[in-house]
Amino acid sequence: AGELTTIVIFGASGDLTVRKLVPALYNQFVKGRLPKKLRVIGVSRSELGDDAFRDKMREGVAEFAGDLLSDAQWEMFAPHLMYVAADAASHDGMAKLKAALDACEDDIENRLYYLSVAPALYAPIVQQLGAHGMAGEASGWRRLVVEKPFGVDLQTARALDSHIHQVFSERQVYRIDHYLGKETAQNILFFRFANAIFEPIWNRNAIDNVQITVAEKVDVEHRGAFYDRAGVLRDMFQNHLLQLLALVAMEPPNDFEADALRDEKLKVLRAVRPIQPDCAVRGQYANYTRADGVAHDSHTPTYAALKLYIDNWRWKGVPFYLRSGKALTRKQSEIVIEFKRPPHTPFNIESDDDLTPNLLSIRIQPDEGIHLTVQAKEPDSIQKRRPVDMTFHYRSEFNGGIPDSYERLLLDALNGDAALFIRSDEIEAAWGIIDPVLRQWDGVGAPPLEIYPRGSWGPDAADALLARSGRVWRIGDLNR
Ligand code: BG6
Repeated sequence: AGELTTIVIFGASGDLTVRKLVPALYNQFVKGRLPKKLRVIGVSRSELGDDAFRDKMREGVAEFAGDLLSDAQWEMFAPHLMYVAADAASHDGMAKLKAALDACEDDIENRLYYLSVAPALYAPIVQQLGAHGMAGEASGWRRLVVEKPFGVDLQTARALDSHIHQVFSERQVYRIDHYLGKETAQNILFFRFANAIFEPIWNRNAIDNVQITVAEKVDVEHRGAFYDRAGVLRDMFQNHLLQLLALVAMEPPNDFEADALRDEKLKVLRAVRPIQPDCAVRGQYANYTRADGVAHDSHTPTYAALKLYIDNWRWKGVPFYLRSGKALTRKQSEIVIEFKRPPHTPFNIESDDDLTPNLLSIRIQPDEGIHLTVQAKEPDSIQKRRPVDMTFHYRSEFNGGIPDSYERLLLDALNGDAALFIRSDEIEAAWGIIDPVLRQWDGVGAPPLEIYPRGSWGPDAADALLARSGRVWRIGDLNR
């Protein structure tokens, strides 16, 4: 009798498990949101006992979930954690796991399989799950969570999907993009569609351009070998930046149901016009090639800036500028909507160009919040004005802080809500945008690889990309 839920984490000895997954589960456990009967089974090849695994996870929670760790709570949580040493990509390894899973007396046993392994293992593990009859839903639901990267281009993404679809139906597949788990990313939809005043101006009539910046201060750190084969377009644009773009640009869905939402995001991605070679800037931070695991003559971009257009009724002609890079000035992710300038100013201002346009900045991280820049008259002057900020900060508005994105995503997957997960057609549409740029950059006539200093805002060519049409990047400059 009863109903048990099992979370199987493949790749349990990896970084993600200890830094993100287990801390997220622990926090949700403390909040009382996990199923009553739960087991979390870590699987990887290292020989480890349950107790050693629990100790390792406790250290992770102490380090990454910080303040929330309490001995009493941990004592209650830890018994749910178990460990199976097995090579899940092999027949015998999966058989061993299956035997451990089958030792369960409940009538219903639901299972969430989480692929947190090297991408080369996705297909073999899924194949073994199928071979052992572990995807069938006769005695409870079965869901598969797949981490990024999902393929390295359109073709490999399709091949991976066809492997997965031989075993799981699309409805069972939850592709992660942790940016969608960020509160600030979800809030884009609330800001737009739970308010009535923005949507009438959220289009080409009032908006001059849209800028999406995801700047990182860190460099490639210890991930050189992986990163050198990926580069910034695969690592950040195909997923995170294009998802942010979709949230900003999509039409209002009828409801918050997974497919309603994803249908609208898909429409935006499909409407992106192919990016022209002169609308893409690629950069690499100085001395990147000296990092561990990186080829000495590597041309892998660690920075990119793209200008693109969405060919639909709402956005025709409005440029979207996207940029992201490593080893930049600071970590800052922000979406800036730049509105058109007033058509005429009655005030004594030298030229209309001197007016900072209204800017709506949606700060994804850090110091999460929303800013609206407006012009204000300076007191005790006749006609002087300057831009001021109307602001909303999460920190002061909502105490309790912002949970890590994996908390939301794991809970949603357990609850069967796929709204914040990527559907296969979205993955394909996103690769469809990025693939041609990757090909241009690999071929003759590729734009030069611009070397930029560490701690800068990236190569000058990225500024030139906007300057050509008289625009500037709106964060990182002091005169906004
Ligand atoms: C990951 C990338 O998907 O996102 C990393 O692989 C990057 O290279 C990270 O550092 C950034 O995530 P966040 O949440 O820190 O902005």
